[in-house]
Amino acid sequence: MCGIIGYTGFRPACSILLEGLGRLEYRGYDSAGILVSQDGELVTIKAKGRLDSLRQKIGDHPPVGTSGMGHTRWATHGEPSDENSHPHGTKNLALVHNGIIENYIELKRGLIEKGYQFLSQTDTEIAAATMDLNYDGDPVSTIAKSLRQIEGSYAFVIMFRDFPDTVYAVRKDGPLLVAPGDGENFVVSDLTAAIGYTNRYFTLDEGEIAVLTRDSVRVVDLDGNPVEKTERTVGWSIEQAQKDGFEHFMLKEITEQPAALRNTIHPRIKNGLPSFSYDQIPEGFFASFDRIQIVACGTAMHAGLVGKAVIEQVARIPVEVEVASEFRYRNPILGKRTLVVVISQSGETADSLAALRLARSLGVTTLAVVNVAGSSIAREADYVIHTHAGPEISVASTKAYSVQVSALYLLAFSFGLAVKRIDEEEAAALVSKLEGAVDAVGAALDKAPELEQAAKRFSDVQSLFFLGRGLDWALANEGSLKLKEISYIHCEAYAAGELKHGTISLITEGIPVIALATQQRLMGKMVSNIKEVKARGADVLLIAKSDETVSHDVADTLVALSPIDDLFMPFPAVVLLQLIAYYTAKERGCDIDKPRNLAKSVTVE
Ligand code: G6P
Repeated sequence: MCGIIGYTGFRPACSILLEGLGRLEYRGYDSAGILVSQDGELVTIKAKGRLDSLRQKIGDHPPVGTSGMGHTRWATHGEPSDENSHPHGTKNLALVHNGIIENYIELKRGLIEKGYQFLSQTDTEIAAATMDLNYDGDPVSTIAKSLRQIEGSYAFVIMFRDFPDTVYAVRKDGPLLVAPGDGENFVVSDLTAAIGYTNRYFTLDEGEIAVLTRDSVRVVDLDGNPVEKTERTVGWSIEQAQKDGFEHFMLKEITEQPAALRNTIHPRIKNGLPSFSYDQIPEGFFASFDRIQIVACGTAMHAGLVGKAVIEQVARIPVEVEVASEFRYRNPILGKRTLVVVISQSGETADSLAALRLARSLGVTTLAVVNVAGSSIAREADYVIHTHAGPEISVASTKAYSVQVSALYLLAFSFGLAVKRIDEEEAAALVSKLEGAVDAVGAALDKAPELEQAAKRFSDVQSLFFLGRGLDWALANEGSLKLKEISYIHCEAYAAGELKHGTISLITEGIPVIALATQQRLMGKMVSNIKEVKARGADVLLIAKSDETVSHDVADTLVALSPIDDLFMPFPAVVLLQLIAYYTAKERGCDIDKPRNLAKSVTVE
């Protein structure tokens, strides 16, 4: 995910671009760059790091002009660096890009043969060179020809040296809006970047090219035929718009989970089977281990607990899960055929990084599951699976957890195939169930009003318990962490069958219990455990697989999901837990996105 903006009008472009990028920075902040058309020259300034680094670099000498484009980067291809920052320029043009060019290696080969040289490791520079090679003096036909050669997802803003005050824009999959103003026009990743100047917009569709000058906006198809667009208007304030209209980033990120899951899963499915060729993991890798050690912190560790259950069930390879801060100080026993998997959203958590370094120093193979490309853990692990949750801004992790879990499922299927615990037919069936689970996540989001209602009764409690068995116990841990970190209510997650060995003494009249029963096989036992706490006065909210699998009088409140295979129930079920935490914290008036004492990325031990 990156943020892009194009502008042509009458105001100083540099300040318009910097202001717009400030509002798009949530989309990525590995680097930022601008280009301003100054006296017919395309002047580019870019800097690694946050927008402030670019602001400092520009200082008191901004390029002078009233047309330009800008970019804030969330690195995918190539580490965060000045060279890899956008815009990328060639002899004839420059462009900014949000997306991934899938055939860039093939295109690059052809371009090198034609004498092109490259300064960056990005796929974007290849797209710029492709357009440069196709340049025939007509930007529209040049772009159209290039788009027929470029595969992947993109939103591009392009400027040509021969037409320095005209801004061109195209998109496929990546978001891009044209926002017409009065004597000025914008093209932006989201309207937040232009909302201070216009509230009019239209969406650009695939196969359309927008041509913006100061006084006109024209849209044509790839054959140059004019396309009529219908404008809309929004009534947002700038503050709301930054969160896409959501009150908090956390809620926005919870709702982004279906898209995040699809972005993570799809590149790892080939011909219906799991494939990690996208991550350059060699074929033989999955048959090389007889033990797996997962190491992580916080929510990422809870993703590991789900991963353990699934890998052990599908591939029958023993998996241990440990918090990184314990693992690194206990002199772990790691054999030659042990794989250490480090899971981290940020890729910078100090304890996880130290655990990774320890594993490497002991000579074992390491695999990282990381959301931030170019992060320390991603750079140092032997193999890396990049999850594609996009930037996660809320400190409480939601979509990053789900995509980590999805990567672990695909790993489980690959291990299962490699050690011949499942055949291709079974693997294909599991993959298709995983894809189905993404739709179930969408359906779980529709339960928000029920959970908002349920959360009202937790708003003034002192203490709360989460109970579950098997996969539900793994989920209970995450539900408990989510609720305690943002609502400050004391919570405990318990294996439902273990509660009676001591902790049940804390269950008294009115104590709230959130029970999970999504595993058909364990339903009978789970119902008995719920009855045990009900008999002691607990107020039970039950999250069940469906309303047909459990009698309605078991609990005080029942929230039922749409049933899918037990193994995949964690995907929709965790959404309900995230929503309970969110609405409870909201009811209590907590600072949801920035809870006290916490940080998004903990780089101290
Ligand atoms: C912090 C965050 C948690 C997160 C944990 C691990 O404590 O507050 O939400 O789960 O770090 O972060 P990582 O970036 O390694 O996944």
